[in-house]
Amino acid sequence: MKKIVLAFGTRPEATKMAPVYTALLAQHGLTPLILSTGQQRQQLDGALAAFGLTPDADLNVMTERQTLADLTGKIVPQAGKKLRELGADMVLVHGDTSTTFCVALSAFYEGVPVGHVEAGLRSSNMQEPFPEEANRRLTGVLSTLDFSPTGGAANNLRREGKAEAGLFVTGQTAVDAVRIIAGRAALRAGWQARLDAGQQLVTITMHRRENLPVMPELARALAEVARAHPELHFVYPVHLNPAVQEAVRPALGGLSNVELTDPLDYQDMAPLMAASVLLATDSGGLQEEGAALGVPVAVLRNVTERPEGLAAGVLKLAGNDGAQVKQTLLELLGSPGTLARMRAARNPYGDGQAAGRIAQAVAWHFGLAERPENWSE
Ligand code: UD1
Repeated sequence: MKKIVLAFGTRPEATKMAPVYTALLAQHGLTPLILSTGQQRQQLDGALAAFGLTPDADLNVMTERQTLADLTGKIVPQAGKKLRELGADMVLVHGDTSTTFCVALSAFYEGVPVGHVEAGLRSSNMQEPFPEEANRRLTGVLSTLDFSPTGGAANNLRREGKAEAGLFVTGQTAVDAVRIIAGRAALRAGWQARLDAGQQLVTITMHRRENLPVMPELARALAEVARAHPELHFVYPVHLNPAVQEAVRPALGGLSNVELTDPLDYQDMAPLMAASVLLATDSGGLQEEGAALGVPVAVLRNVTERPEGLAAGVLKLAGNDGAQVKQTLLELLGSPGTLARMRAARNPYGDGQAAGRIAQAVAWHFGLAERPENWSE
């Protein structure tokens, strides 16, 4: 049996790796194990619970307001020790967080091959998103197998000189995850009652580090949009980062049609997104989830590493300037025709079978299965 260690530490990584864990369990000759860094204690635990996953090892590295260097200095040595103890034959990391890069580096030092899930996304701007663009590039230097969600992402890796043999186009595991949960979770009763009464929901999230300096301004812009649309109900699960809490609560806290909540577990978040007329977010994952669910997304960033959603028409870049964000959101919410066109856009991120392709590719690497076919639209 080959031991495949899935390493993650943040909520979105857990959500997007959960289908991969299940697919590996079903793959003959492979045993999946979970190494949690605990980068996000509460948010990660909620995501693990949503999929019924339990870590086999946990580094528990989170402390409040630690710097990126502090985090790196903890994960790199501790992950290496755990990989040795677990007897890892391969490590799978996901995306572009500090956990992703640090565990990949640690595995490289240990001589353990790295598979990179969600490989090849590029904004081509090292400051946006920061530090994620650097994390995913650095991880790409270290990885042996790369699982790209789209053909465009795989082409980014080809341009960087990665060998064809290690490249796989699998689709995005977020599509797998959102379908699994949407099939078994119901919208919270309070939100369902609003829908039944004819009210529409808008979901907001913001947490990007490069947006922190402008977050109070963005929160004021969102407050003005909410005041202009008293008929809408805005739900905003606020990230637990204290810097985010301090930036957004003053502007949005007192509005009767803005519901500020703690971060939501995926069983609540997936149906909320599916029931919303619009997602306004600086998140990466919500861009894919919106596309998979057919829900328009206003992206509160200047650039995105997810150009397929822009091309398909489900995403709209709103920038991160208060006046521009307000104008874009007012235009979208004032134009049912535009929202309907965005809703009808095709989903460019996969067919919900990405995890199976990844598990098969890992088995192929060990000579246990045929090479999987690439996914294409
Ligand atoms: C991290 C990732 C980002 C991802 C996001 C998802 C990096 C550099 N960034 O960003 O790519 O989109 O997670 O959430 O890895 N905190 C808590 N409880 C929690 C979670 C966070 O208290 O459950 C607080 C801690 O004080 C922590 C701070 O929030 O130090 C920031 O969290 P951290 O994971 O370091 O970075 P994010 O900015 O959330």
